[in-house]
Amino acid sequence: MAILITGGCGYIGSHTCIEMLQAGYDIVVIDNYYNSKPEALRRVKELSGKEFPFYECDIRDAEGLKKIFAAHKIEAVIHFAGLKAVGESVRIPLTYYDNNVGGTVTLCQVMSEMGCKRMVFSSSATVYGNANTSPLTEDMPTGAVTNAYGRTKFMIEGILHDLCNSDPEWSAVILRYFNPIGAHISGRIGEDPNGIPNNLMPYVSQVAIGKLSQLSVFGDDYDTPDGTGVRDYIHVVDLAKGHVKAVDYALAHTGDEAINLGTGNGCSVLQLVNAFKAANGVDVPYVVAPRRPGDIGTCFSDPSKAARLLGWKAEKTVEDMCRDSWRWQSQNPKGYDE
Ligand code: NAD
Ligand code: UFG
Repeated sequence: MAILITGGCGYIGSHTCIEMLQAGYDIVVIDNYYNSKPEALRRVKELSGKEFPFYECDIRDAEGLKKIFAAHKIEAVIHFAGLKAVGESVRIPLTYYDNNVGGTVTLCQVMSEMGCKRMVFSSSATVYGNANTSPLTEDMPTGAVTNAYGRTKFMIEGILHDLCNSDPEWSAVILRYFNPIGAHISGRIGEDPNGIPNNLMPYVSQVAIGKLSQLSVFGDDYDTPDGTGVRDYIHVVDLAKGHVKAVDYALAHTGDEAINLGTGNGCSVLQLVNAFKAANGVDVPYVVAPRRPGDIGTCFSDPSKAARLLGWKAEKTVEDMCRDSWRWQSQNPKGYDE
């Protein structure tokens, strides 16, 4: 029996492949390389010392998926495949609905047909929108999203809920990630964004290495201790370990559960920049710029449901996250394009 990992070549997927292999699971990986490179999985194999089947396949390709399910005994799916750039989703919403929502519907149809009815899905804290106060708990209202990307996550959560209601054999663990950063401790795999990064940590790392001249801190007038935005940064390896626990849970239960994966600790932009400088002995020049449209001041999790249901807790510190992000960036200044 094996676990199918869609989008397994990406940032979170590649780290999860390693943790799944280490936990003793057999895996089968698919990806269409839209936002990733074959080198990532080559390094996963190198780090884990294990081989596993890979298929270049799009989750919207029902026939391609069926062949993969027919060739392997798949007992559950970890579903990472999706587009994730917030700004791009506002410009090309139909592409996001087609890929993320349409792709997930196709995947679920094939899974049902092939008798595999257990999924761990990558959702996001973005579904909490701007109407709730942190710490965010899973029972808070969702859906007040501000962009098409967020709406695809909200819609997919609803689809999985309806699917589980319609068929008592289905199991869906919906993981709401907070802000994943960091990299594998080896420095061999990490986040490899295309072009100029949108997210804080890859931007900070590229400033530190001199690829970008300075960081723009988007707003210092939020209602937070130092005025800059507060987020719940979580080490990608902790996040990956959460997926192993979520698969265990999905194999043992039916129905749908939404579960936060965060640390429960808020960290401001300036705290993160200072932690990065201290951990790595590098400079990160910055200027304060206007707020970024759509941003909220504070977003952090209540992670207690994950502890209760999955027996999982984040273990790594912000210092670990900064050190590991920098090791990846400094050892791979061009990402996987060496
Ligand atoms: P990523 O872009 O690195 O990985 C996603 C992978 O999916 C890529 O390798 C891409 O090529 C693949 N993919 C995309 N569309 C596909 C398709 N139609 N068929 C097959 N493969 C396809 O992103 P990530 O940061 O690893 O995120 C993984 C998942 O977690 C995504 O669904 C994302 O929305 C979600 N998520 C990410 C964050 C974050 O901050 N990184 C936060 C919350 C949720
Ligand atoms: N920030 C800066 N300068 C930058 C980039 C970011 O000051 O160049 C600030 C932002 O204003 C925010 C914080 O750093 O206060 C974090 O920003 P990110 O872009 O790294 O992350 P977000 O919290 O905005 O968004 C992330 C993911 C989204 C996801 C959301 C909620 O990128 O996909 O978390 O889960 F929807």
